[in-house]
Amino acid sequence: MKISRLCISDFRNIRNLQLVPHEQVNIFFGANAQGKTNLVEAVWLLTGAKSFRRVRSEKELVRFGACASRIEAEFFAQGRQQEIRLELGEKKTAWLNDIKQEAPSALAGSFSAVVFSPSHLSLVSAGPSMRRRFLDSCLCQISPKFLKTLSDYSRALTQRNALLKDVRYSAQLLDTLDVWDQSLAGLAALIIKMRVKLVEQLQEEAGKVYSGIANGHEGIQLSYQSSLGVPYTQEDFPGFCGQLYEKMKYHLSEDVKYGVTTLGAHRDDLLIQIEGRDSRSFASQGQSRSIVLSLKLAESEILTRASGSRPVVLLDDVMSELDASRREYLLNHIQDSQVFITCCEKAYFEGLKNGIIKEMAAGELL
Ligand SMILES: Nc1ncnc2c1ncn2[C@@H]1O[C@H](COP(=O)(O)OP(=O)(O)OP(=O)(O)O)[C@@H](O)[C@H]1O
Ligand SMILES: [Mg+2]
Repeated sequence: MKISRLCISDFRNIRNLQLVPHEQVNIFFGANAQGKTNLVEAVWLLTGAKSFRRVRSEKELVRFGACASRIEAEFFAQGRQQEIRLELGEKKTAWLNDIKQEAPSALAGSFSAVVFSPSHLSLVSAGPSMRRRFLDSCLCQISPKFLKTLSDYSRALTQRNALLKDVRYSAQLLDTLDVWDQSLAGLAALIIKMRVKLVEQLQEEAGKVYSGIANGHEGIQLSYQSSLGVPYTQEDFPGFCGQLYEKMKYHLSEDVKYGVTTLGAHRDDLLIQIEGRDSRSFASQGQSRSIVLSLKLAESEILTRASGSRPVVLLDDVMSELDASRREYLLNHIQDSQVFITCCEKAYFEGLKNGIIKEMAAGELL
């Protein structure tokens, strides 16, 4: 997937930007608050996903004083030249090859990207929900069926939680609860199965990237941590469902006491270790950055394998806190993809062969 033309107007501090990107590396450097992240954010929005920044209302994205933003790109994917257009204002509207889409989310799958931003560092340091979201968003891109399973699980969980509160006052509801337990266990089993398989693939890909970045000095280990404590067994899926169901039953009295489902796929975690140590407690800033980068580049590999099309890689402010050898590995490793990199220091990229370096100031490319 390669963008051959990009136009951004009235998006954040970008009044009017026109760019013919290089098909490999595109570096945007400049002082703070010039619009580098804004540029990357605009490209990311073309995937149909929400911004990777905390945005209260999408109206915030429109340039102060303007009525609407417009982001347009021509790109090559699925063997042909395509066009995408996004308008943001009162509403967000997307067009793909001049066809208005029902919703911007319909762009997913047509234009794909992976993004690293410093806000993703919380993938390492924050609680398990960020890591589950990372796994689930990868899986949603690989398999539309997964999104359905996930929303069915979430609905069943809401119903079960409501019943858990009522069961205290009418014990005959326990029979109804059992029906939800069976359905929830079946759905949890499907989710866990998909997540475990993804973690295996991530381990393989992120393992290679991480040891490359770290120059072979250290390795990353990823494992799926099931809150119900039932290891996934590929050979006997019905048996696995049964075990999850039994565990849920075992925890029933606690669930009734707290009025919520205390354990399940919604409480699981992705354990990330460096040399056997939990990265949540022990990773340095540079290591955390390397971990998130490895996960994101692994995601890009897995999406490429699943869709046959290599996502655009967006790296916002990735180079700071990486030492020279980590930076060099990264630059060499990502050259198969079209990459957009932002940074403050131009000096990091001296000697860049396959790409362009542009300075950004006050929302404009110089
Ligand atoms: N809706 C908007 N209209 C106009 N300007 C905006 C809007 N939203 C944000 N900005 C401005 O955009 C600028 C920030 O741009 P951006 O985050 O892209 O900077 P940056 O170049 O990535 O800086 P840093 O190096 O600090 O990360 C800020 O000055 C901010 O006020
Ligand atoms: Mg920035």
